[in-house]
Amino acid sequence: MPPSPHTALSADAVKTAYRRWATVYDTVFGSISSFGRRCAVAEVNRLPGKKVLEVGVGTGLALPAYNQDKRITGIDLSTDMLKRAKQRVERQNLVNVDNLLEMDAEATSFEDGYFDIAVGMFVASVVPHPDRLFAELKRVVRPGGHILFVNHFIAQKGIRYYVERIMAPASKALGWHPDFSIESLLPPEELRKARTQPVQPFGLFTLVSLAR
Ligand SMILES: C[S@@+](CC[C@H](N)C(=O)[O-])C[C@H]1O[C@@H](n2cnc3c(N)ncnc32)[C@H](O)[C@@H]1O
Repeated sequence: MPPSPHTALSADAVKTAYRRWATVYDTVFGSISSFGRRCAVAEVNRLPGKKVLEVGVGTGLALPAYNQDKRITGIDLSTDMLKRAKQRVERQNLVNVDNLLEMDAEATSFEDGYFDIAVGMFVASVVPHPDRLFAELKRVVRPGGHILFVNHFIAQKGIRYYVERIMAPASKALGWHPDFSIESLLPPEELRKARTQPVQPFGLFTLVSLAR
């Protein structure tokens, strides 16, 4: 199946959307996505290597779940979401969070191979250019490291496929693309190697793991 032609959000549209979302994000989206987030972080915790990059860290909902021996750098485009992540780090004294930086995940300032692991939770369908996000994560993760995503991908068929297509024009207001396909994120040769597993609720989200 060819990649679905999802409507791209610009970086400014992302910032505007998440300025609005920041205050209610944890309440509205926190619980439906919590299982996927927990699965992704549990996988990060099982993997070797300490240096972890979390892209699109948002309000930092995942930060308390990392093992103490993982050193976390979180980045996000949205000042408003990051502000909440910083408050969480302070409130919960999360000493293994090294940095929370306002930075574009598609073009970071990190050196090649700096991280052991990169993880993006519910961000791949939000970034303006998912293919650039993947290329950037490949650049900053060392050979032998790992790249993980948890995300919603458009259903291949059935009622959900039609509902998601109908919802697609609302991308700008939602701040993500209901019609986002995994092929928009991963080139075919990477998709063949990727391990994917559906996660709750109802297999609505997918955990994707790739060895770099
Ligand atoms: C749906 S939220 C997910 C937040 C968090 N990962 C979670 O699990 O709750 C998407 C986040 O990605 C951020 N984002 C979108 N595009 C980005 C980009 N190009 N670089 C960095 N962050 C980005 C948004 O600002 C927002 O905070």
